Amino acid sequence: MAKNKQVFICSECGASFPKWLGKCTECGKWNCIFEQVNNPIKKESVSVVKLSSIENNEITKLDTGIAEFNIVCGGGLIPGSVILIGGEPGIGKSTLSLQICNSIDSLYISGEESPLQIRHRAERLNINLDKIKIFPNCIAEDIIAQAKIHKPSCIIVDSIQTLRSQNLSGPAGSVTQIRESTLLLSDFAKAENIAVILIGHITKDGVIAGPKVLEHLVDTVLYFEGDFNQDFRILRAFKNRFGSVNEIGLFKMDHNGLNQVEDKNRVFINPHTSIASGNVISAAVEGSRGVLFEVQSLVNFTTFSNPRRMSDGLDLNRLILINAILEKHSQLKLSSYDVFINISGGFSINETAADLAIALAITSSYFNKPLPERTGVFGELSLSGDIRPVTQTTKRILEFKAAGFSEIILPQANIKEANAAGYAGKLISATHISELVDGLFGVRAAI
Ligand code: TYD
Ligand code: MG
Repeated sequence: MAKNKQVFICSECGASFPKWLGKCTECGKWNCIFEQVNNPIKKESVSVVKLSSIENNEITKLDTGIAEFNIVCGGGLIPGSVILIGGEPGIGKSTLSLQICNSIDSLYISGEESPLQIRHRAERLNINLDKIKIFPNCIAEDIIAQAKIHKPSCIIVDSIQTLRSQNLSGPAGSVTQIRESTLLLSDFAKAENIAVILIGHITKDGVIAGPKVLEHLVDTVLYFEGDFNQDFRILRAFKNRFGSVNEIGLFKMDHNGLNQVEDKNRVFINPHTSIASGNVISAAVEGSRGVLFEVQSLVNFTTFSNPRRMSDGLDLNRLILINAILEKHSQLKLSSYDVFINISGGFSINETAADLAIALAITSSYFNKPLPERTGVFGELSLSGDIRPVTQTTKRILEFKAAGFSEIILPQANIKEANAAGYAGKLISATHISELVDGLFGVRAAI
């Protein structure tokens, strides 16, 4: 009989070795190599079938009772699918998962909190305690055994970093453990038609701790984002086998958990600061909806040779680029000024259509002169200072219209579409940033 071959796996990078080593020769880490205990795997017989002979059953999505979550998932939880929810500690992942349990029979695997802590939280959230079964054990094989007995519609694993498989000897949270356990649960979920929600912490670099392959193993990857000083939370889809990746869900963290936001499209605008200098409101398009947000800028004279550039909610490189455009194509001597940008409400900018609003916010703070009240701005900037057209003009215009804006500053190339959108207010269009700086702030732009 063939002898079982010993295999040693690095728990950090997943490299395999025929013998134990103190240091992984692949990733250079110490004390991270463990023997892989291979239990004999039962061979299942599978055969080739015609695609047309696969039964085409209509998928019934499970309503989570949380409309914003349903939107992001593509209409609801799909039985047999695996969803990974990532986010910083304290952002609300456990709260959201418990709220999902309120309307779906769930098995809640808790590796981080005691059953009593979860009960306290569930009571605070006013959740139907009978819907939830708690299993405070993090071994994937045991979870599967319990799921076979209790037959839940959904298994929630809080968190994937505490999960491990009996097949491996490495510690929970290691790359190999996360991968193996996810595979086991995912195969089980697909075979039994049970939805699985995996909660994952993110590292300080903003990625889910664990192997990158984890994102390939699951059907949907959602990230929970938000500003801890604000109550708003954004659930964003990064991968979705069953729906659009552009959709976002908006929540507000209240004393009784995560609630849907009433005035969804305007949650990021602060009504008290919008007429101050340095503040400009723009419209982003997130999935099927337009969202208004506020760019806040502070431009301060500095005596240091290296002026500071800081941004929250905007890529720092984009800010540096917009500064360079303003310096080259208008009279702004930004090399003697610190420039700080903050996108209000914890919103983060993902499209270049916000360029013009950022440029005008910087200019407004530089000259200490606010834009006229109720003015919206959108447009992309090219390195030559030209204002380039953006997509989805109608959606942005309609958003400003609904919020009662009386003026919109936009690219000249988008004016036709804007006129067709039936907006009754004033449209100010331009082709170059210098025209706007000159016209709005009364300076002669030096091109
Ligand atoms: P939690 O869901 O535990 O975050 P995560 O699982 O992502 O680490 O959320 C914790 C935060 O949410 C905590 O700071 C308290 C706050 N919170 C509320 O404000 N209201 C509530 O009803 C609940 C349950 C939590
Ligand atoms: Mg948690």
